[in-house]
Amino acid sequence: MKQERSIRVPAGIRCATAVAHPNIALVKYWGKRLAATNTPETASLSITLDTLTTTTTVAEKSGSDRIVVNGEAVRDAKIEQFLHLLRQNFAIPPLLIETSNNFPTASGLASSASGMAALVTAIDGAMDLGLSLEERSRWARRGSASAARSVTGGFTALAASNGWAAEPLLAPGEWPLNVVIAVTSRERKTVGSTEGMELSRRTSPFYGSWIESNARDFEAALEVVARRDFSALGAIAEASCLRMHAVMLTTDPPLVYWNAGTLEGIRRVRALREAGVGVFFTIDAGPQIKAVCLPGDADKVRVALAEMPGVQDIHVVGLGPGAACVSS
Ligand code: DP6
Repeated sequence: MKQERSIRVPAGIRCATAVAHPNIALVKYWGKRLAATNTPETASLSITLDTLTTTTTVAEKSGSDRIVVNGEAVRDAKIEQFLHLLRQNFAIPPLLIETSNNFPTASGLASSASGMAALVTAIDGAMDLGLSLEERSRWARRGSASAARSVTGGFTALAASNGWAAEPLLAPGEWPLNVVIAVTSRERKTVGSTEGMELSRRTSPFYGSWIESNARDFEAALEVVARRDFSALGAIAEASCLRMHAVMLTTDPPLVYWNAGTLEGIRRVRALREAGVGVFFTIDAGPQIKAVCLPGDADKVRVALAEMPGVQDIHVVGLGPGAACVSS
């Protein structure tokens, strides 16, 4: 697929555009074993989405780096640190980086995951680094650990057993689920994941038991994904999500990412399930409700969540592919 670039690049300039999709963890990552290498403390298992996209164009330039996010020139410490790290390992010239999301940035819709996955993929394409999928995933993880999982598509695992590079489990078409995302606030979150998980590690009395339960949830989830057991996966995912939020709530100062719409979303998903609808919820470091459902039930779920007071937006998405260059 060729894609129009929004920036004009003179002939002979090395340049590439990559597209990546956010992913949603069903077994969550929250906490780092080693901050210096951004190595997670907990394994995670996710689904990569379709339709929601980050598109990133990278082009070499003279002078210094210029970063443009959603049309606005910005200083972005996370991207700057990541470029610094890459330059310790590869010869990369000053870059123009233009990135845009077709969904709200930094509000719990995993924009940092798709952002870093698209960035490393575009840099690899523009600079001919020749990275393998695993290497791209490992570099993306250094930028943001959840981004490692957006490098691959469908169902993905991220664990120590694969050297903390994402491992594809099922392609999107092998178990085609839907996700209904109810956006209950478009505001940027006040405490980002990196800072929040470090606070949790230092202060939450539940942190140790979170790590223990995560190991069990991850092993169980691998097994239920392999046999495509939707209700067992839902039980594991909801427990993992609620335990992560228990850690967040017991962090000092407390990390309360939910709003009234989040709680109402949980209530509605549980009521739908009691009425026989195939659906479970998950929530990340933000107030949005993500309802994972069987494709035949997506419309019922969409209607029930769209009617909630305070819902700003509803997205119904399927499972999508990993990050890829669309032009170079
Ligand atoms: C709640 O990957 O954004 O979405 O590695 O510090 O960049 P850093 O954190 P990040 O954390 C994601 C946390 C989460 C759960 C998950 O996606 O597993």
